[in-house]
Amino acid sequence: MSSSRRAPATAAARPAAASGPAPAPEALAASTRGLTKTYGRGAAQVHALRGVDLDVPRGRFTAIMGPSGSGKSTLMHCLAGLDRPSGGTVAVGGTDLGSLDDDALTVFRRERIGFVFQSFNLLPMLTARQNILLPLELGGPRVDDDARERAQRLADSLGVADRLDHRPAELSGGQQQRVAIARALVTRPSLVFADEPTGNLDSTTSAEVLDHLRRSARELGQTVVMVTHEPDAAAYADDVVVVQDGLIA
Ligand SMILES: Nc1ncnc2c1ncn2[C@@H]1O[C@H](COP(=O)(O)OP(=O)(O)OP(=O)(O)O)[C@@H](O)[C@H]1O
Ligand SMILES: [Mg+2]
Repeated sequence: MSSSRRAPATAAARPAAASGPAPAPEALAASTRGLTKTYGRGAAQVHALRGVDLDVPRGRFTAIMGPSGSGKSTLMHCLAGLDRPSGGTVAVGGTDLGSLDDDALTVFRRERIGFVFQSFNLLPMLTARQNILLPLELGGPRVDDDARERAQRLADSLGVADRLDHRPAELSGGQQQRVAIARALVTRPSLVFADEPTGNLDSTTSAEVLDHLRRSARELGQTVVMVTHEPDAAAYADDVVVVQDGLIA
């Protein structure tokens, strides 16, 4: 399933201990070692991640596949610093996320990471345009003309330009998903995580979004990590990682 359609610029995403020498740290956008995440206590305990060693190469498009409940979203949330692991380490661009306190982690995330949530997480009281521009507002500096232009270009390219003045409740699921993608990309983050970004899209729109993500990696050098259930979507990626039962298969 791994679809290396071009000569690999760096090592492919892979379970870290699988084979060969470790890639140079600068070739890696993110990596985990012994990553565990346990939810709940006692009988209700769920071991969502059970010791994940993963290297995500820089500037490539990596797909994560695996059955429902296998830990894909949990892995993405830990990689993106949205959730703290129960054990093990996560490094992003050479920074150990465990060494950052909550405030530093928030700033780090804001500056480096874009995240498309499986459930979109758009703010209901803001319009699509305001949702897209939100990460820039939160970043401190005023939203300038450049940022507005970038937001408009993203909206054009994702086919939601005519819905920018509507609130999420007035958008279809697929339109909300595309607004969420624009919001994740508007800061031009070095690392983009997308959790099933085509789950609500028809095949034509899906292809456009996937092409956009692939170009983000190839033309802009962004690292893109995408969860998907669809083999057709994974085929757009440079590498495919399979998660099964809280481990890299
Ligand atoms: N906040 C939580 N509290 C308790 N259990 C959780 C929580 N989040 C996830 N889990 C459990 O952890 C396991 C992994 O969940 P996760 O959301 O990572 O799966 P997934 O691979 O993304 O699944 P899907 O393909 O359905 O999105 C599941 O058994 C899930 O029920
Ligand atoms: Mg999930």
